[in-house]
Amino acid sequence: MSVETLQFQGRKAAAELDTRIRVAKAALGKRAVILGHHYQREEVYRHADFHGDSLQLSRAAAELDAEFIVFCGVHFMAEVADILSRPEQKSILPDLQAGCSMADMASIAQVERAWQDLAEVLDPDSELTPVTYVNSSAELKAFCGRHGGTVCTSSNARRILDWGFRQRPKAFFFPDQHLGRWSGHQLGIPLAQMPVWDPELPLGGLTPEEVRNARILLWKGHCSVHQMFQPLHIERWREQHPQGKVIAHPEAAFEVCSMADAVGSTDFILKTVKAAEPGSEWLVGTEINLVSRLAEEVRAEGKTVEFMSPMVCMCSTMFRIDPEQLAITLEELVAGRPRNVIRVEEPTATQARVALQRMLDQS
Ligand code: 13P
Ligand code: SF4
Repeated sequence: MSVETLQFQGRKAAAELDTRIRVAKAALGKRAVILGHHYQREEVYRHADFHGDSLQLSRAAAELDAEFIVFCGVHFMAEVADILSRPEQKSILPDLQAGCSMADMASIAQVERAWQDLAEVLDPDSELTPVTYVNSSAELKAFCGRHGGTVCTSSNARRILDWGFRQRPKAFFFPDQHLGRWSGHQLGIPLAQMPVWDPELPLGGLTPEEVRNARILLWKGHCSVHQMFQPLHIERWREQHPQGKVIAHPEAAFEVCSMADAVGSTDFILKTVKAAEPGSEWLVGTEINLVSRLAEEVRAEGKTVEFMSPMVCMCSTMFRIDPEQLAITLEELVAGRPRNVIRVEEPTATQARVALQRMLDQS
């Protein structure tokens, strides 16, 4: 079979899936709403009723009336939608394999053990505010709810940590050390007072003295996508584009964020580049689907948008939500057979809601 024939068949299959999604969506009407995270591939993203970063989508999930919330994102996002929506609503993840490797880096068993270990050095419940990035399991959010802590996203981490310090003198930040470090740095905390807690080592690999001196304990977790960005990529690009601007997501390493002209959430990145003057040049350090779509959107204004790494690093779990999964999910809803319903059990749901509500109250 020729390449042209294969390409033709591929386009035909894609068009058929697109039509199936539109037909099923129309049949469901207001009963279903599709939420699409900015990292979703274009063929899925275009069908979403609401697009946003994690905070915007959490808010939407709390406010929507639809019977079905179809979450085109990853598992922890669908959990948040279930926790914040009403009991009769159903949160649905089109592919159950769409997890987040960073969220998996802090298990509840490891966190409970860390809290116990810390009790040998200080009184965690009066000295430490646990703050978890929204990229975490519902169990970890519930832990934060039980221990006077809260949740943050990439767009409010600094403000939420500030809230944490008004409750207790220190914070324990899970699971993304980079977001925690960058946010602490923005609050003026020296790097030396933000040691990394390694869950594999006794007392996190720290001395009692280091724990006592810490302002923020940073859980040893990271995003495998954003760790690909390196200061060298920025240096090389700036040599070629002396007038260009660099923008990065705060999940990138501290050295990368420090070199960037601007740092912020996925939505902040989109808004900043879209609002920039025509003809401007941008190097963007976040997931490739967002960067490619943005480059396409602003091309007509003469803006150039380049991906920060020479390697194609995409979030493979976000990419698991494909048009076929979305079509099947919607068609099954039309047929009265909801699949891949994400349900967070009690008491985890109530305790996690406490932590999430503390965040929403501060945002
Ligand atoms: P945002 O909250 O900026 O959308 O980020 C979510 C995420 O998973 C980034 O990797
Ligand atoms: Fe998780 Fe990183 Fe993917 Fe975001 S980009 S969902 S942090 S693995």
